[in-house]
Amino acid sequence: MNTVSEKKIPLLDLQAQHKQIREEVLAEIVRVVDAQKFILGEDVKQLEAEIASYSGTKHAIGCASGSDALMLALMALDIHAGDEVLTTPYTFFATAGAISRVGAVPVFVDVEEDTFNLDVSLMESVLAAHPKVRAIIPVHLFGGCADMDPIMKMANEHGIMVIEDAAQSIGSEYKGRRAGSIGQIGALSFFPSKNLGGYGDGGIMTTDDAALAEKLMALRVHGRTGKYFHQWIGVNSRLDALQAAVLRVKLRYLDGWTAGRERNAAHYRRQMAKLRIPVIPAQPAAYQTRHVYNQFVIRCKQRDGLQAHLKKQGIGSEVYYPLPLHLQPCYADLGHKAGDFPVSERLAGESLALPIHSELAGEDIDLICESIGAFYA
Ligand SMILES: Cc1ncc(COP(=O)(O)O)c(C=O)c1O
Repeated sequence: MNTVSEKKIPLLDLQAQHKQIREEVLAEIVRVVDAQKFILGEDVKQLEAEIASYSGTKHAIGCASGSDALMLALMALDIHAGDEVLTTPYTFFATAGAISRVGAVPVFVDVEEDTFNLDVSLMESVLAAHPKVRAIIPVHLFGGCADMDPIMKMANEHGIMVIEDAAQSIGSEYKGRRAGSIGQIGALSFFPSKNLGGYGDGGIMTTDDAALAEKLMALRVHGRTGKYFHQWIGVNSRLDALQAAVLRVKLRYLDGWTAGRERNAAHYRRQMAKLRIPVIPAQPAAYQTRHVYNQFVIRCKQRDGLQAHLKKQGIGSEVYYPLPLHLQPCYADLGHKAGDFPVSERLAGESLALPIHSELAGEDIDLICESIGAFYA
């Protein structure tokens, strides 16, 4: 089977995307460099207004990364040592890392087999057993929203806050509402591999709450509310004008790129049905009214063998995530063991992300699926 050996298909092809926008982006970079204003400023303000409008929130506050967006959100809600925060063990490390950075403790709840997101049916008993939980961080993993209505209902009943980890899901919708617009604060990432990726690190926080927006704006500049006047102890986590200028160009293309991802996902689903390989989600859940496919993930037997086979064929793939957070060495003190979150552990052993970027051609997907078929033949 050497159908694809001459053609390399990377997991993500940022070069192909860059070619479409190179001239526009370079003009913006020259403009910002000539202005010599690099930190926050007008470009950041304009991006913030545009992201707020795109996400359906009243405010958006730029910062240095998605990880910082989560941490600043926790700081703004005054989550600190002695508090617990409920989240999923099946996510990128930053979700739990942010909780620990503010001195709080993550309390994990397993995910659903068919969405990778928090299993809301398990949450009530965990909340009852953990009265110190002061916030929930649902993660909208891979571009599909978690089931927010029951999460918000439980949070309201328990008087606790919700921070949406929307790092992977800009523009994703839950019953028509955009990711980041449902909880008290949303945290988005502009890491280059995200659907709206900068030319370096960046992040943003979304909220409808004017007082929280003001606090977040202060916390990203050392808690400063006036010249050399510090209302809170914050951090240095600012978004660069260069990143904002690049992101503003890319934002204009985002819906077109998302449509490409949706088209590719539909193409994959038809091919995977023929191969009888499960896709997660098989179809977006009814409440996931817009899935933005930051990743397209299949569930497969002999996963590592398949990945090695694809690599030999020049096809990129990735395991998101091989070790759930409750089993990470840095969380050994939480006292978890293998078997505590069985769905997360199973998914960690069986899931594989395939190329899904909008520049991927239908024939590339056919080659990938042919190669997968050959592995199992
Ligand atoms: C689910 C999730 N949360 C948080 C982050 C952190 O974002 P960043 O890499 O911008 O710090 C990421 C991105 O990698 C992510 O995927």
